[in-house]
Amino acid sequence: MQAFTFKGDSLYCEDVKCTDIAEKYGTPVYVYSHGSFTRSFSELQKSFSSVPNLVCYSVKTCSNLSILKMIHDIGGGFDIVSIGELRRVFAATGDVSKCVFAGVGKREYELTEALEKGIYSFTVESEQELEMLNKCAKKLDKKASFALRINPDVDPKTHKYISTGKKENKFGIDMKLAFELYKKSCDMEFLLAEGIHMHIGSQITTIDPYVEAVKKMSKLISDLKNANVPIEYFDIGGGFGIIYNDEKPIGSDDIIKELIPLLKDTGLKILLEPGRSIAGNSGILLTKVVYIKNNSVKNFAIVDAGMNDLLRPSLYEAYHKILSITGGAGQKGSENYDVVGPICESGDYLALDRSLPVLQQGDILSVMSAGAYGFSMSSNYNSRTRVPEVMIKGNQTYLIREKENFDDLIKGEKIVKF
Ligand code: LLP
Repeated sequence: MQAFTFKGDSLYCEDVKCTDIAEKYGTPVYVYSHGSFTRSFSELQKSFSSVPNLVCYSVKTCSNLSILKMIHDIGGGFDIVSIGELRRVFAATGDVSKCVFAGVGKREYELTEALEKGIYSFTVESEQELEMLNKCAKKLDKKASFALRINPDVDPKTHKYISTGKKENKFGIDMKLAFELYKKSCDMEFLLAEGIHMHIGSQITTIDPYVEAVKKMSKLISDLKNANVPIEYFDIGGGFGIIYNDEKPIGSDDIIKELIPLLKDTGLKILLEPGRSIAGNSGILLTKVVYIKNNSVKNFAIVDAGMNDLLRPSLYEAYHKILSITGGAGQKGSENYDVVGPICESGDYLALDRSLPVLQQGDILSVMSAGAYGFSMSSNYNSRTRVPEVMIKGNQTYLIREKENFDDLIKGEKIVKF
């Protein structure tokens, strides 16, 4: 079942007409499908059901409190990368016992608070961080459970900005050093080596990089067993790609056939940290055409959503399908447009040279596959307020984040007389 479907020429999110949402909440607005979130989560969980597993939703992808609560209620844990994300999980669920905390630059206070709150495990990315974690745990007289994030040096064949498991990337620790650090940690009184971690990149659409990385990791896992370092879980990270345009993402069959046997052989509990594959196609961004402008070489559709609302096209040249969803779209033929935002940057666009039904001022466009790294990467650039988020479940509409107002925008600022 698709979350966003046309009935006649109207786009629906579940049973609610998207133009009605745009009218009620104004544009731009992020719209999510509850069913799509829970389905994608369960489908991934099902692919891994033949191994003991814990699916830790990657909070950075789309971090609204209602979404975190929903994931928690269906048994999910969380991959977090800052104390802010930890506090989000805590605020939404009151339970951080299934949180794993990654990130190369965790500060002392972040480690301490996470330990105090009782997270599951830390994903440690350097020797100095390991020492810092031991120090924090000692102060609290608590054991800190950790996994080392290994940089397995594989090419995930994705955009260079979202590739994380190659030697030249800042993430993780190389295999040789990791082995030494695991051994060293056995003598660090307040640490407990509980897992091993990798995350090789994002929007990965073939299983091969996972297979290559898991094979490398398996070797280290067996070396650790032989060296009496008794780890219990293997966190394989996130990264599963989705369809934005015509990609062929990794299917459940590929996972079951190629990956599961290797994972079973490790004998470990498997953790996953999916973000995009849960949220990506569970959300859209609705925006309105403010003006149409033509010059001798181009048509511009100037819309009310900018790079501050959806950064991916500007930052990664990412492709998002755009649909015109105002009734009767397409009846007057099509034209090519640069769909651009109101921000004062030439790089502020949602699509370039895109064929769309002839557009008019006031038309509503739906920017598809915007659920992952959409709202969560939005900003106040150009002093624009961040947009509302709406969740649809069946025929019910829930406002899960209000539109920001001017007071939000200037909160904390002071007018100092110099
Ligand atoms: N685990 C770790 C340690 C991560 O760094 C990430 C994403 C994930 C899990 C989730 O990965 P996913 O399943 O979503 O691929 N802003 C970029 C994506 C950056 C990904 C950062 N790390 C984008 O818009 O494409």
